[in-house]
Amino acid sequence: MRVAVIGLGTVSVVHLAALSSLGLDLVATSEGRYRDHRVLLDEVRPDAVHICTPHDQHVPVALDALARGVHVLLEKPVAHTVAAADELLAAAKDNPSVAVGVCLQNRYNLASVAARELLLSGSLGPVIGASATVMWHRDDAYYQARPWRGQMGRSGGGVLINQAIHTLDLLQWLLGDVTDISSQIGHFAGREVEDTVTAVLDHARVGPLGGGPAAAGGKLPAPGARSVFFSTVANAVDSPVTIEITTAAATLVIRGDLTIRHADGRVEVIAERRAESGGRDYWGASHELLIADFYRRLRTGEAFAIDLEEGMKSLRLVDEIYRQNI
Ligand SMILES: NC(=O)c1ccc[n+]([C@@H]2O[C@H](COP(=O)([O-])OP(=O)(O)OC[C@H]3O[C@@H](n4cnc5c(N)ncnc54)[C@H](O)[C@@H]3O)[C@@H](O)[C@H]2O)c1
Repeated sequence: MRVAVIGLGTVSVVHLAALSSLGLDLVATSEGRYRDHRVLLDEVRPDAVHICTPHDQHVPVALDALARGVHVLLEKPVAHTVAAADELLAAAKDNPSVAVGVCLQNRYNLASVAARELLLSGSLGPVIGASATVMWHRDDAYYQARPWRGQMGRSGGGVLINQAIHTLDLLQWLLGDVTDISSQIGHFAGREVEDTVTAVLDHARVGPLGGGPAAAGGKLPAPGARSVFFSTVANAVDSPVTIEITTAAATLVIRGDLTIRHADGRVEVIAERRAESGGRDYWGASHELLIADFYRRLRTGEAFAIDLEEGMKSLRLVDEIYRQNI
């Protein structure tokens, strides 16, 4: 596999580090005259590209890659709008031999995988409900350093589409497809993009679970659970993301590690990996696992579980929340 990375900003360091440690052949990055990704695609002709550009530059670059038969690993979110993502989805359907994967790496966290396996097994009884909090700190310097992050037209939104989308994705992946949402958003810091979002989500009574590294398919053991969700970047510090799931027989808390408190008093802890060098703690430690899985499946011809449809689930939830708060 000859791989190129397009977009050499903050997140690209974890992609470059993963490619190096996995021994993949990095043949070009979007520097110099390759800053125009079409020149890179036409001259270098990579087999796959990692797209690490701002949100509004995901789909244009991905469409050009697809048109040339180049596999795509796309950073989250799929796009800054559902309309743009739909355009990519249509192009991907026209090019079924080209893989498109979405970088929702937290599905590969040990804690996420273990929690999902436990919930799918039914051994903890029905899910009663869940809560999730994302309480992070993004100050003016963060938005000044990369102005697109604060511009609706380029980012598509604030905390929800940029930071908390991972946690929204995990909630629907762990508890089932979302059938109903009520939400409110806040602009407490006075920026163009929102800094705070609260939502109540109803999950499907039964339904097919999405893809991911854990068991695919199956039925939810816990019909009709509800989750509550709170996310902000107006917090003074970056607190660990916390997801708490209550079932009939246990409480599961993901806060870095997964802690399972059984009703009979037993406590189990499943330790999470530490973040990769070069990455930020709050990105988690799973980019490399996702990237390794993406290439393993390209080699074997298996479908990558977080494809465009799967990656768009969280984007559709984000879109619905924004629509509710126009
Ligand atoms: N998965 C995660 O945990 C995670 C973490 C951080 C960022 N991200 C995502 O990664 C993406 C990039 O975020 P970032 O913080 O690294 O942004 P950034 O602004 O730091 O970097 C983006 C880079 O892309 C370049 N660029 C812009 N348009 C381009 C184009 N058309 N062709 C080539 N290069 C182009 C810019 O010059 C810049 O160097 C975003 O989608 C973001 O949401 C994901």
